[in-house]
Amino acid sequence: MATEANCPLLQTQAQACQSSLQLRDVLQDPARFERMALDAPHMLVDFSKNLVDDTALSGLLGLVERSGFAARRQEMLAGEVVNHTEQRPALHAVLRQRYVDKAGGDAAGQDAVCAGLHQMLALAQQLRASGQIQHVVHIGIGGSGLGPKLLLQALQPWCDGPQVRVVSNMDGHDLHQALQGLQPATTLFVVASKSWSTAETQRNLHSAQQWFAQQGGCNWPAHFVAITARTQAAYAAGFTQVLHMPEGIGGRFSVWSAVGLPVALAVGREVFEALLQGGAAMDAHFEQAPLQRNVPVWLGMLDVWYSSLMQVPARCVAPYHHGLRRLPAYLQQLEMESNGKCVREDGSPVHMPTTGMVWGEPGSNGQHAFFQWLHQGSQWVPVEFLAVRQPAHPFEEHHECLLANALAQAQALMQGAQAQPGQLPGHQDFPGNRPSTFILLDALTPQSLGALLAMYEHRVFVAGVLWGINSFDQWGVELGKTLATDLRQRMKDQNWAGLDASTAGLLSHCYQSA
Ligand code: F6P
Repeated sequence: MATEANCPLLQTQAQACQSSLQLRDVLQDPARFERMALDAPHMLVDFSKNLVDDTALSGLLGLVERSGFAARRQEMLAGEVVNHTEQRPALHAVLRQRYVDKAGGDAAGQDAVCAGLHQMLALAQQLRASGQIQHVVHIGIGGSGLGPKLLLQALQPWCDGPQVRVVSNMDGHDLHQALQGLQPATTLFVVASKSWSTAETQRNLHSAQQWFAQQGGCNWPAHFVAITARTQAAYAAGFTQVLHMPEGIGGRFSVWSAVGLPVALAVGREVFEALLQGGAAMDAHFEQAPLQRNVPVWLGMLDVWYSSLMQVPARCVAPYHHGLRRLPAYLQQLEMESNGKCVREDGSPVHMPTTGMVWGEPGSNGQHAFFQWLHQGSQWVPVEFLAVRQPAHPFEEHHECLLANALAQAQALMQGAQAQPGQLPGHQDFPGNRPSTFILLDALTPQSLGALLAMYEHRVFVAGVLWGINSFDQWGVELGKTLATDLRQRMKDQNWAGLDASTAGLLSHCYQSA
């Protein structure tokens, strides 16, 4: 594991790269691109604009080898327990692999990991064929909402089924807006909650049921589908249509499972299966490609390089594709909930910075907002550009301009520039040497989207192994939930006794008569 004990050499290399590696000089060598642009299913990933040299790369690859990564990867892909604080496997890749391998076989639907997925796809097919559902309101938050939101936008050209609206927030504006113009008879509510106890989802479910009854809806169980690992709780709540998601599939890894129902309703079974195939193709790359050409391995080890060894606290994600505009939000949960931790699996401290903040906006919008900071700010962060070779729209000129802008931004960050005669020294200087990775998809398709998301999942796993972190639990979300339950009761009782001065002061201000 990437303990301080085995990192002094890498730390020295990181300091050397940061102080003396000049990207514009090393990129005079065409062989650098050939060595550092790696192929993976449906994409090419160019790492050549990163602040690493061959010595650093071999040091990092050595760290991966010494970390026990190969054995850990095998355990995860074999469905063994890898989430030790919850005694669970992490089954997202197992699910994809088994589904893709057995989709048409006799065993289809018999496998406990895949059963809910098979049921979900059959239900989606049946509902699409019936033509009775015009709108779907999907209720779910975190992993039960972010994945469907991203996929519905990314797969928009394939959406030919009912219109889907996703509701996550406990802020009533979210549900209120989603219900506008809907008729109970032609609306299906999908309620996704692995734990079946998430406050936002339960509140939205309750209000959706009230709305359904108030609007004259009949037979609510026919219009509500539950997706959960706690199937008994859903049945006990009166649901009759209940799809199972396995305990071993974490919320942020769950869009491949029955949680994908709103997506499958919108795009159909075949497109959803293509997504799974893309994910499975990336799983195979992750399992089989040598470390020197393995894209998730490079991404994960560079996360350690920048966060831990160069102490850079963030990464910017800039997707130059309208369909991927929610990708930064999706990655915030995937990466920050997985690796935003400072204890190792055994509970001991990590003693070095772990995953940084992930943030971003789609290009080219971001260029007119925070790119100033990326180019001339007093701190730098690595940037991850995403673009496609082939767009899904007919406006060729738009696409060329967009691609030119994405490439130019990466180039400008890398090469920098000095103010020319007649320009303003300082103000028109660009320091350059700011690193980036460029992910170039062939096109945004169900397959490439599946491969892209699986790539990010495996990257998180690689970095987690190097830090010695359990990437599959999320204890850090619990304290706030417990305190909110306590405050809710105090608000009912109007009792602020024993609270800290700030919380008590704010509460009493809320309840003062206006
Ligand atoms: O509170 C965090 C979290 O548990 C996430 O990990 C999860 O994706 C989200 O809440 C929603 O949880 P559930 O699917 O159980 O409603």
